[in-house]
Amino acid sequence: MNKSWWETAVVYQVYIRSFADGNGDGIGDIAGLRSRLPYLSALGIDAVWVNPWYPSPMADAGYDVADYRAIEPTYGTLAEAEEFVADAHAAGIKVLLDIVPNHTSDHHDWFRAALAGEPGARERYLFRPGRGELPPNDWQSVFGGPAWTRVEDGLWYLHLFAPGQPDLNWMNPDVRDEFEKVLEFWFDKGVDGFRIDVAHGLVKAEGLPDRGVVTEGVQHNQAHPAWDQDEVHEIYRGWRAVANRYAPERIFIAEAWVPGNERLARYLRSDELHTAFQFDFLRAPWRASSLRSVVQDAMSAAASVGAPPTWVLSNHDVTRTVTRYSRSQPDGLVETDWERARWAEEDADHELGRRRARACALLQLALPGTAYIYQGEELGLEEIEDLPDDVRQDPTWVQSGFTDVGRDGCRVPLPWSGSSVPYGFSPNATTTTWLPQPGHWGSYTVAAQQDDPDSFLNLYRAALALRPIRWVDAGAVRWLAGPPGVLAFARGDVQCWVNTGDVGVDLPDGCDVLLASAPGVGSVLPPDAAAWLAAACDS
Ligand code: GLC
Ligand code: CA
Repeated sequence: MNKSWWETAVVYQVYIRSFADGNGDGIGDIAGLRSRLPYLSALGIDAVWVNPWYPSPMADAGYDVADYRAIEPTYGTLAEAEEFVADAHAAGIKVLLDIVPNHTSDHHDWFRAALAGEPGARERYLFRPGRGELPPNDWQSVFGGPAWTRVEDGLWYLHLFAPGQPDLNWMNPDVRDEFEKVLEFWFDKGVDGFRIDVAHGLVKAEGLPDRGVVTEGVQHNQAHPAWDQDEVHEIYRGWRAVANRYAPERIFIAEAWVPGNERLARYLRSDELHTAFQFDFLRAPWRASSLRSVVQDAMSAAASVGAPPTWVLSNHDVTRTVTRYSRSQPDGLVETDWERARWAEEDADHELGRRRARACALLQLALPGTAYIYQGEELGLEEIEDLPDDVRQDPTWVQSGFTDVGRDGCRVPLPWSGSSVPYGFSPNATTTTWLPQPGHWGSYTVAAQQDDPDSFLNLYRAALALRPIRWVDAGAVRWLAGPPGVLAFARGDVQCWVNTGDVGVDLPDGCDVLLASAPGVGSVLPPDAAAWLAAACDS
C-alpha cells in the first residue's frame, strides 16, 4: 500500500523565536530560518512545523494571535514567509504552520471591537455576568489563577490561558467562517498543513457549568467542561472539507490533551483530522514496561481509526528529554508539568539523561507512524533550569504566583557555533538573546558536533538516514521477549532493542548492529542504550 508522506514523516518543530536570528536583534526570525534550511535538509527531516509566527503582543510567546493573516514584524514579512515556503519545498521539506483557534490575542480587532461594545462583537467571545463579585464559574486558567477577567462595564470574559488570550465562542458562525477562510489563506500560499493548538478546547459545555473541583490550573488531560466536548468534532469535519479541496494533500495534526486514547481516536475519524499528538510517550518514565505499554496503547488506538500513531518526546511546553531522564524516574505516567516542581529538588545527571535520550530517539524513530523532533533535541540540549527570574517570559511564572517557573527553560536560543554566547545564533556577536544561553553550550553547538562521529547530531543524522531504508515500510511491531528492563521488537527483518535496566544484556546471536546509541555495542547492549539490528538472527 502506498503511504502518504504524512503517515511516516519525521517533523522538525521550529520554535521560531529561538531557532536562528537573521537580523541581529537576538530574536529568531524567518531570515534566520531560511538561512538554516540546508541544516534541516542535511538532518534528513521531511517537514517542519513552525510555531506561531503571526503578529502578537507576545503575552504567550505568539499563542496570542492579533492577526491570523500576517507575520509578526519581529519575525519578518509575509513576502519572506512565502519565500520560506518556496525554499522549503525546493529542498523537499513540507511546511506545517500552527493555528490557534481556541483564543485570539486581546489585541485582535475582534476583541477590541468587543471591548468597545460594538454590536455583535461580544458574541464572538465568552462574556458573562459574574456571581456577585465572583467570576461566572469556578474554572481556573491553565497557567494558574481564575480563567476570567472582568472588563470595565462589569462583565467577565473567559480565558483558559492568559488574560491576553480571550477564548472564542465557537457556537458563533462568524468564528467558524473566519477560521475556514484563514485555513484557505495559508493553503493558497502552499502551506501543507496545520498543527492545531488546544484542539480539544474549542467547544465548552453548554451553560459553562462549574467544574466542581477547584484544582490549581486546569489539567489538560482531565475531564473538564472546557475540554473535549463532543460538539468539537463538527468543527473539524468542516476543516477537513476545506483541506480536501486542495491538492497536493493538506493535513492537520491535533494538539489534543484528552483522557485516554479512545477519546483521542475520535479526532482521527476519516472525515476529521489526519493525526494527533500522543503525549503519553513523553509522560512515560524511562522504564521498559511503561514505554512498552504506552507504545502499544497508542498503536492500538491509532489503528482503531486507521490513523498513523505519532511519537513526541518533547516540545516547547515540556521539560527537555535529557533533563526528564536525568533524575530518578517515577513509577507511572506523569503530568506534563510535574517535573518542574518535583525535579528541581534532585540533582540532575545530564550525562545519564543524554544516554537515555539517545536511546529513546532510536526507539522513537524505529516505531511505525510519524515522529516529531523539537529543535535542539538533536543536539542533546538540556532544560535550562536556572534562568534568572527577571528574564522569565512564560506567563505561567506570573500567573502561578511565582511558584511554577514555566516553560522558558526549553525555549532557550539554539547554539550553532563558537564557544561563547550567542553561539552563532545571531550574526551580531554582541546581541542579547531574548532568553540567555548558558555558558557551557560551546560543546553542544552544531559546529562542534558536526565532525564528531559519536555526537548526538550524528546519531540523529544516521538514524534519519536509515529510517526510510529500514523502518518505514517494515510493517507492524512484533514484541520480542527480552530480559527485565528491556524493550525489544521486530518489524519485518529489523529489530530495535532498548535497555532501560542497570545491567548489560546479550543481544541475539548473529545480528548485525546497524546503529547503536552508545559506542562499541557488539554482542552486549549496555544499560541506558538502544540498538537497531539487522535481524537475520534469532529472536
Ligand atoms: C498550547 C501551546 C502552548 C500555549 C497554549 C495556549 O498548549 O502548545 O504553548 O501556551 O496552547 O495557546
Ligand atoms: Ca531577529
